Amino acid sequence: MTHFHRQAGTLFVEGVSVSQLAQQHGTPLYVYSRAALAEAWEAYAAGTALAKRHSDPNAKVKVHVAVKANSNIGVLSVFARLGAGFDIVSAGELARVLAAGGQASDTVFSGVGKSAAEMRYALQAGVKCFNVESLPELERLNAVAGELGVRAPISLRVNPDVNPKTHPYISTGLKGNKFGVAFSEARKAYATASKMPNLVVHGIDCHIGSQITETEPYLDAIDKVLELVDEIESDGTPIQHIDVGGGLGIDYGDGGSPPPKTADFVRTILDHIDDHSTKRRDVWFEPGRSLLGNSGILLTTVEYLKPGEEKNFAIVDAAMNDLSRPALYQAFHRVEPVISRDPDPEPGVLARTYDIVGPVCESGDWLARDRELLLAPGDTLAVFSAGAYGFTMASNYNTRPRAAELLVDGTEAHVVRERETVAQLFAGERVLP
Ligand code: LLP
Repeated sequence: MTHFHRQAGTLFVEGVSVSQLAQQHGTPLYVYSRAALAEAWEAYAAGTALAKRHSDPNAKVKVHVAVKANSNIGVLSVFARLGAGFDIVSAGELARVLAAGGQASDTVFSGVGKSAAEMRYALQAGVKCFNVESLPELERLNAVAGELGVRAPISLRVNPDVNPKTHPYISTGLKGNKFGVAFSEARKAYATASKMPNLVVHGIDCHIGSQITETEPYLDAIDKVLELVDEIESDGTPIQHIDVGGGLGIDYGDGGSPPPKTADFVRTILDHIDDHSTKRRDVWFEPGRSLLGNSGILLTTVEYLKPGEEKNFAIVDAAMNDLSRPALYQAFHRVEPVISRDPDPEPGVLARTYDIVGPVCESGDWLARDRELLLAPGDTLAVFSAGAYGFTMASNYNTRPRAAELLVDGTEAHVVRERETVAQLFAGERVLP
């Protein structure tokens, strides 16, 4: 995270003082680094360049940014300019991609519950591929494409039943998950799909989970998928691409096992596929967190310090509605004061072990637990690794307007989303006549 660094004890994002941003724009505030986004993106290209296939024009690699991780159109526009494709799970996300300057023809539509209206919109926009997750979805897509007089390009998301060894809420490739077509039914499902007049089979897709810190579960999934690909092709349906999903984890600084470096991961995946395939095929990735997570921070201000017999609380102005990962997954986010304090506490500064908690009326409303910090009311704190699944999972619980979002580019900070106002929150509501 070299784009988040300290100068004389003060945190900077690229060339901009974080403390000044907090003063100017208020908190809670999300701040992203364009350079960090670009660096994370380049790591995927670097891995591709290291792979055996790098000079093979018949074996393309395409990275589709998982929009659900961060859907701000300013952020998406950075990726669009870098030549990214996008992975979407709703019509709303497609609208954002288009508003950000992304191409529908480079967008993949994933998700387990696509409505007919969403399919219509995506077909009219001309998305590149639908990752279909069930037989009823195949039928619906075939019917909607037929109504529009087009053929829908598809992959089937298959569920390889491997354990990604991550949090149960974010593991998706096990039999008991709601995602994908069961492995044992996949061959038949491809045979069915290939006979549907308004569908064209392009590839195969699997996504086994998120915040995965080992490569082995991917290799296990890929081995199963490749076996299936051979069967599907022997049934007469060619498979042009293999979409290996997203899921590569990041280092949250919690001392847990660090994930592989993106470039090494990408190279290993590509070489494994090429070493075990009967022929070269295009490979697609759908990463979110590994592109975005460590490219953003959340700033929050200490409102009150509340020392207690059992716990010391630092009550801050950001809450579970702004960053829900700790409440939902007991997720760890590193927290540091934006301006480091002298280890010799000044008057009024308390050095203690704190729980960092928000103003929302729930005990689950915490951002961090048991952190040794030197704090005074009014201090600004940076919550790290908040660039993925931070703002996109924010809510208005307790009628709290959502934070503003800034994108720093060198010495400039661009407001890519204004702070919400309370008036906006109930603008669509009506009192009874
Ligand atoms: N593709 C599909 C089909 C997905 O469902 C996901 C994430 C991704 C790609 C991107 O996965 P990533 O590379 O970001 O791991 N809210 C949770 C994470 C949920 C992930 C959902 N699916 C969290 O904050 O940890």
